[in-house]
Amino acid sequence: MSNLAAPKPRVLLARRIFPDIAARMAVAFDLDYADDDQPLSPEALRQRLQGKLGLFASGTEQITAELLDACPELRVISLMTVGHNNVDLAACSARGVRVSNAPDVLTETTADFGFALMMSAARRISESEHYLRRGDWKQWRVDLFAGADIHGATLAILGMGRIGQAIARRGALGFGMKVIYHNRSRLAPEQEAPIGARWVSKEALLREADHLVIVVPYTPASHHLVAEQDLALMKPSATLTNIARGGVVDDVALARALQQGRLAAAGLDVFEGEPQVHPDLLACVNVVLTPHIASASVPTRRAMCELAEANLRAAFSGQPMPTLLNP
Ligand code: DGY
Repeated sequence: MSNLAAPKPRVLLARRIFPDIAARMAVAFDLDYADDDQPLSPEALRQRLQGKLGLFASGTEQITAELLDACPELRVISLMTVGHNNVDLAACSARGVRVSNAPDVLTETTADFGFALMMSAARRISESEHYLRRGDWKQWRVDLFAGADIHGATLAILGMGRIGQAIARRGALGFGMKVIYHNRSRLAPEQEAPIGARWVSKEALLREADHLVIVVPYTPASHHLVAEQDLALMKPSATLTNIARGGVVDDVALARALQQGRLAAAGLDVFEGEPQVHPDLLACVNVVLTPHIASASVPTRRAMCELAEANLRAAFSGQPMPTLLNP
């Protein structure tokens, strides 16, 4: 017997996505589409999840034990992001709620952006563009916006997962950088060798870095992993780039180091309490600030949505979810 008459799974799509993907999902699911760029408030999310079996989440929704208890029919949460710091995975697992994220599809795009942000900070691209637009460019000067070199410099990577390794490849193979890294686990020798990567302690990483790039997941253990005392170990000529999560770096301590010339420049795509940005950072000229767009190329954002869609489809058709986090 055909299952055409079977009811479609009730799914909440919690944020506006690409129209064609949303339209396709509306065919596959009994879809409640929050077709808005404004995130649902926690209360609205709770209400809209009533009776839903699945959630397509943008990654910013706070998925707590309380929310799960208030939405007992929810079985599957599919995140379109690789980061899952807003989801209480243990609470999901304890209630039999499967959670997937969107790894791999954004690795190269995010690494491209991290590299661009690092280069922009080191070569003072953003700062000099503002100067030019203000009409302050009156003459050539020998040290006009003279910054730091990328080629041949020491690239220090904090967090050597997929994105960290993709940044390391760009640095080593594209720019002849010396790569050092700090991570809980070391890469296998055959992963280290092609890029000449060397594991060092966190302290050595900070001391030796010409350009520090932060790519660790945000967990309670990585909250303010780079704080005042860590910044104090860095060379005044060094740069810091954060494409991980706000909260990994103490933004106030960073702004102080930048203002006092204890760090040359920073490139930040993520912030504590974003989309708010701490006023002390906004006041710094030597920081490049971008609104959490490291994975935002059109093909990659589409691929992230499509992977989230594929996870939901798999979950409701009895197939293994391609990128399940809590098997
Ligand atoms: C991710 O996927 O975690 C990126 O930060 C995009 O939000």
